[in-house]
Amino acid sequence: MGDKEDVRNRLDIVDFIGQHVVLKPAGRNFKGLCPFHKEKSPSFMVSSERQTFKCFGCGAGGDIFSFYMLHEGLTFPETIKDLAEKAGVELTSFQPTQEFLVKESLLEIHRLAAQFYHYTLTKLAVGKKPLEYLDNRGVTPTQISDMQLGYAPDGWRSLSNFLITKKKYPVEDVEKTGLVIKSAHGWYDRFRGRIMFPLLDTRGNTVGFSGRVLPWTEDETSGKYINSPETELYHKSKLLYPLYHTKEAVRQKNSVVIVEGEFDVLSSLRAGVKNVVAVKGSALTEDQVKLLSRYCNTIILALDADTAGIAAAKRAIGVVQAAEMNIKVVELTEGKDPDELVKSEPKKWRHVVKQAVDIYDFFLNTAQRQHDVTTVDGKQAVAKEFIPLLNQIQNKIIQAHYIKKLAELLGVEAEVVEQEMSRQSKKDIIGRAPRDEATTQSKPVSRLHLLLEELLTLVIHYYLQVNLKVISTEDLPDTAVTKIITRAMAEQPKDIIEFAKGLPPELQQQFDDCFLREPEVYTDKQVTERFEEIISEVAKLTLRDRLSQLRHRLAQVQPDQRGHIEHQINDVLVRFRSYSGHE
Ligand code: CTP
Ligand code: MN
Repeated sequence: MGDKEDVRNRLDIVDFIGQHVVLKPAGRNFKGLCPFHKEKSPSFMVSSERQTFKCFGCGAGGDIFSFYMLHEGLTFPETIKDLAEKAGVELTSFQPTQEFLVKESLLEIHRLAAQFYHYTLTKLAVGKKPLEYLDNRGVTPTQISDMQLGYAPDGWRSLSNFLITKKKYPVEDVEKTGLVIKSAHGWYDRFRGRIMFPLLDTRGNTVGFSGRVLPWTEDETSGKYINSPETELYHKSKLLYPLYHTKEAVRQKNSVVIVEGEFDVLSSLRAGVKNVVAVKGSALTEDQVKLLSRYCNTIILALDADTAGIAAAKRAIGVVQAAEMNIKVVELTEGKDPDELVKSEPKKWRHVVKQAVDIYDFFLNTAQRQHDVTTVDGKQAVAKEFIPLLNQIQNKIIQAHYIKKLAELLGVEAEVVEQEMSRQSKKDIIGRAPRDEATTQSKPVSRLHLLLEELLTLVIHYYLQVNLKVISTEDLPDTAVTKIITRAMAEQPKDIIEFAKGLPPELQQQFDDCFLREPEVYTDKQVTERFEEIISEVAKLTLRDRLSQLRHRLAQVQPDQRGHIEHQINDVLVRFRSYSGHE
């Protein structure tokens, strides 16, 4: 048996997808909200019997491999490697590509580096002071081990020697991780004298590090934090710390609290708010939001209440709304980050997160705090800040709610706010235009195609009730659907799943597309009637097509050849009329 088959047999697609998507039984299949595009009603189907999935909204579909590949954005070799590991399958026939091997070796170097830093922090004498520092900041030994926190010794070649001299990794490979930098005199460590935070991707691989300086290693030339440079593995704008560890909590709460830095995350976890990630001091990106939308539908920003924090929140609105997620804000007292808040009042952190307000309330509250709305200047300032935001709200009910709120705050009629809004929206378009780029590309699907798919869906789901012998396929067009039906009539299968296994590979996809469709619920009589209706309509569409081709040819041929074509036309007409009872 091939590796792929082996893995497929050991992992159940329904269990597996069920870990990522809430699935509910639907007939003999399961259905849920598609993780690959935004939708409000489920069109994502999974079959246990066929071990396949298909989204009828965006068209994504395939087996467990395609699911994982799409979901995690991986290449096929990475997919098979991960799934084999989950299934406990030793890969034998698998031939990795050069690119894959390079990536694997970079991952391995990161893994070793994380171990090295962790060991230095927890087991070596040089780790004693850094450990005390962490303890002072409230970080617990459990957290140190869970998050594999580490310490990069304050020397030029600690990690380099470990990886290159001791572990014999080629300098070129080590250099690609960005952990070691090449210089005229050899090489040196990027991270020195810092607390090390391994940065993990959502599969749990260490792909980079963030290092915080320690009070006694700090000088004016070194930043408080430094990160791995952008590498093949690490892309700052795509990573959220430590989503691998907190994604389960995010999924359960269906919301995620976004904080600034690593220590805010650790403090939040200790205070019991576990659905948390850090953006590491930068603005929330589209990629990060997309990643989060796999796990939850609400983003709760807990950024500084300073000007930078407010600006960051404003920028986040567009990105979050484009992903059709909700956005809330935790109101932090100015100058206090979650870490400091947890330190002084751990319970309060939980409380303020619970009290997170809708982002527009947050802006209104801040505007009100910053300006005196009893004065003309104050009113004007608040209006100037808030009206562009109001114009961005896509949901009309929510928009009306805030128009009213702003009007009340300014002591004017709602109409005045509306007039001002329309005046401003003509003047300038703030932020991005609402994105109208649906993932669903609605290709025009022909009526014939729809009917054929319905036909096969009925054959599959009602195959025992339907007398397959009665289907006359001679007037159906030659398509995958017709081929499957013809085979089914010839075989008269007892078990449709067994039948499907015997189909040639090029027909499997079409079978699954219909197998995963939810058929109408019919009585035996109704289904037979619907069958006849479809066949008659399909046949007529096909015959009409044939007729027009023949007529076209008739006009082109020599008179002495017309007789033959006229004869064919007659045949088609007779056949056509034979279906007319079902008009
Ligand atoms: N950060 C970063 N790279 C930098 C600067 C900052 O990744 N060059 C990230 C870090 O994750 C940091 C966060 O931005 O935690 C916020 O930066 P800063 O405000 O400087 O952090 P503090 O809260 O002051 O850091 P600490 O709590 O460790 O004192
Ligand atoms: Mn801090």
